[in-house]
Amino acid sequence: MKTLQVANSFNFTKMPFGDKSVSHRALILAAIACEPSTYNNMGICDDVLSTADCLVKLGAKISFDGEKATVIPFEKANNDVILNCGNSGTTARLLGGLVSGLGIKAKFIGDKSLTNRPIRIIEPLTAMGAKITQAKDCLFEINPSVIKGITFQTPYISAQIKSAVLLAGLNADGETTVIEKVITRMHTENMLKAFGGNIIENNKGLYNEITVKKSPLKGVNMTVPNDFSTAAFLLPLGLKYGIKIENVLLSKERTGFLRLLEKAGAEIKVVQTGDFCGEPTGDVTVYHSEIKPFTVEAKDVSDMIDEIPVACVTACLADGVSEFYGLSELKYKESDRITETANLIKSIGCRAEILDDGLLIQGNGKIDGGIINPNGDHRIAMSAVTAGILSDKGVTVKGAECIGVSSRNFLKMLGLE
Ligand code: S3P
Repeated sequence: MKTLQVANSFNFTKMPFGDKSVSHRALILAAIACEPSTYNNMGICDDVLSTADCLVKLGAKISFDGEKATVIPFEKANNDVILNCGNSGTTARLLGGLVSGLGIKAKFIGDKSLTNRPIRIIEPLTAMGAKITQAKDCLFEINPSVIKGITFQTPYISAQIKSAVLLAGLNADGETTVIEKVITRMHTENMLKAFGGNIIENNKGLYNEITVKKSPLKGVNMTVPNDFSTAAFLLPLGLKYGIKIENVLLSKERTGFLRLLEKAGAEIKVVQTGDFCGEPTGDVTVYHSEIKPFTVEAKDVSDMIDEIPVACVTACLADGVSEFYGLSELKYKESDRITETANLIKSIGCRAEILDDGLLIQGNGKIDGGIINPNGDHRIAMSAVTAGILSDKGVTVKGAECIGVSSRNFLKMLGLE
């Protein structure tokens, strides 16, 4: 177990930290295209490497040279494979969808945390005709199936479940439509367009409707923008020390935490410098600022789903109670993140109260410091690092190796390794 001592200093060095969600999709779409693809600035981390390993098992050829990746697609997927998704829910759900339509047999396995998480793709994929079963020794097993398109009005607020159905739809007979009431990150649909996929998006204001059909995908050459969800651990440091983070993917569905910081009173400058598959990219500067307690309403959670733990650490810097509602999806993450976030906040010297589907954080305007075991959850561990840098006495993070699930560069980027 790696124990990390984080004191109240850091040395921010610009390093590549390509977006993790985009990197998974980049590998998956390239593996089923008709031509090779290349990417710069991939988000190299344990989760993305789990996706790469599974795609190699299916027959793709993937090589990495630093943050550059080259993918040579498979023509026909290998049959009877065991796909190890490690800790990665994105790998399991997205590939579960894709593999359902490949007409092969595949057994999906994962680590203890992933095995205990509800997978929630089986019902829509079964409705499409996938022969998919859950067994004790694996996440699920897919038997050779011929699948057809469906219209799936998703009851979940989950980009992974939406993406599973859309990726299955690429090999289904007829049209596959996903309707979501709350619009989640749209990387799958936007990247599919860049690959030349047959996809129609119909944003009807109250809900989003996406339709895919079978279509050959071309190869692409792309540079992955930096990951807002990693940048989110650095933004609160700006409140005390000032920080500028460049070339980050700034999609509306990913940047709720940025809007929250602004609402809390942080002085922030955002400059859009480009776009990635139709989503904005740019530079974010956070200036030294005082923040006030804030409220996160249920409707805003989806746009900051991975940033709630670090938003709670940020709440400790405000003097008073910050309120978080509508957090139930957090129970299905790498840990029960409501409980683990409350533990983190208590371990660093502030007060946290767990509500039915929320959290109350009593901030003191400062973080004392303490010792935390994130129980294998990378985002809790990274939030603890942020807390340590902002603390008076430092934070000790036990089991800090789980940070690799999210990013290989995170500690180096902060000069902590
Ligand atoms: C992700 C979607 C989110 C997010 C996860 C990555 C994705 O999960 O929490 O870290 O890449 O689609 P859900 O779709 O389950 O909310």
